[in-house]
Amino acid sequence: MESRINQLFTEAENAAEQSYSPYSHFRVGSALLCEDGTIIRGANIENRSFGLTNCAERSALFAALSRGYTSFSALAIYCPDADYPVGPCGACRQVISEFTKSDFPIYYAGSDKKYISRTIGELLPSDSLYELKI
Ligand code: THU
Repeated sequence: MESRINQLFTEAENAAEQSYSPYSHFRVGSALLCEDGTIIRGANIENRSFGLTNCAERSALFAALSRGYTSFSALAIYCPDADYPVGPCGACRQVISEFTKSDFPIYYAGSDKKYISRTIGELLPSDSLYELKI
């Protein structure tokens, strides 16, 4: 499992190179592991109208869903521009929860890759949607 997580972080690091972040200069990459082993990458894509920015996590999830993947095993988030682990924002937690069960693991790290591991259920507790999915 540890090598799988390392592989996800390598993919997320590569994804961060595709970040379009001229406003924040805060690159974020993510790597979503699909149930069949496929890894789909995502990067944050900003806009001069800041609220239209898409986080790396949602970029990966939307890319995967658009390609027909619907079952997911894990997500890694890597930020080369932070010296602390950058976890998913509230909006991304909500979107991730739509397509995963509460025990879905999320690994997130800053530049040193010392990652934190949390389930989506921990990051978004008491979500009534989970009760429908157990
Ligand atoms: N960002 C992500 O892509 N994912 C996160 O988990 C945190 C924030 C992006 C959004 C914006 O482009 C930049 O980081 C600064 O907030």
